[in-house]
Amino acid sequence: MSRPKVFVTRRIMPEALDLIAGAADLEVWPDDEPPSPAILREKAAGADAILTNIMDRVDAALLEAAPGLKVISQLAVGLDNVDVAEATRRGVPVGYTPGVLAKATADTAFALLLAAARRIGESERWVRNGHWDLAFHPLRWLGVDVHDKTLGIVGLGQIGLEMARRGQGFDMKLLYHSRTRHPDLEARYGLAYADLPTLLAESDFVSLHVPLTPETRHYIGAAELRRMKPTAVLVNAARGPVVDSRALYTALKEGWIYAAGLDVTDPEPIPADDPLLTLENVVIAPHIGSASVAARGAMCRLAARNLIAGLNGDPLERCANPEVYRRN
Ligand code: DGY
Repeated sequence: MSRPKVFVTRRIMPEALDLIAGAADLEVWPDDEPPSPAILREKAAGADAILTNIMDRVDAALLEAAPGLKVISQLAVGLDNVDVAEATRRGVPVGYTPGVLAKATADTAFALLLAAARRIGESERWVRNGHWDLAFHPLRWLGVDVHDKTLGIVGLGQIGLEMARRGQGFDMKLLYHSRTRHPDLEARYGLAYADLPTLLAESDFVSLHVPLTPETRHYIGAAELRRMKPTAVLVNAARGPVVDSRALYTALKEGWIYAAGLDVTDPEPIPADDPLLTLENVVIAPHIGSASVAARGAMCRLAARNLIAGLNGDPLERCANPEVYRRN
């Protein structure tokens, strides 16, 4: 019997490729740049399964061209690049990787929060540029405190919750806003629910942890930024387009808010002439939220296991559209 064919859209951890190679014939896209949409369609058309990441557009046209796909395994928790509804309509399970990256991503988000509050990026640039002329001055490099302040978490999924736990460690008061209330978590973590305008007005730090959907595109725009305190810091480790970046630039430039810490931008990569890069009160990381050796290893292995389960016709360990199993 011929072995199933798998296309993996980028090089990933070798142990995950070994797992897949044990179950299927494997083709791995060798370039660091993603395959073009036309190439991805062509590869998917000849495959039983594809392993994708957030740079690959898995849309209706691809699914139409690849009727033999038994599973799509996404190496991420975010699925805004995948037309999950269309996959469901066609009965194709979509695997993803929640559960193994929340702590690593919250670590990164909290690092950006601290860096923006205490001006770490700006002061590091200053040192490297040879400006450290005076050993110490009582009035230089003052930032804002993190401990004992109010952290407003927007979106209380796994990453938002991990953010709350980090806030607890810094003696922060915790507010959250999400589509659904979580009374059990409120009690367990000392979280208070707030509507978005209240959260924005009362928080010293606002951290975004919502998926990108049509409803959350530009969820934070000029009106929302204007509600925040002039001493507040905005953290975005979710998706760039959740924030209106032009409005954010104005807010940072004109002092509506104090600073921002971004792990994501709109677009990515951020263009070299993006006005945000001219500002000192923003720290920008290149979408590294889950980029620890351990988290990426766990993501790759989980994505491989999801893919193999799909090839075997078994339920995926982490499936974004479990309703495919409830058809018929
Ligand atoms: C995700 O998982 O969605 C991240 O953005 C990439 O790790």
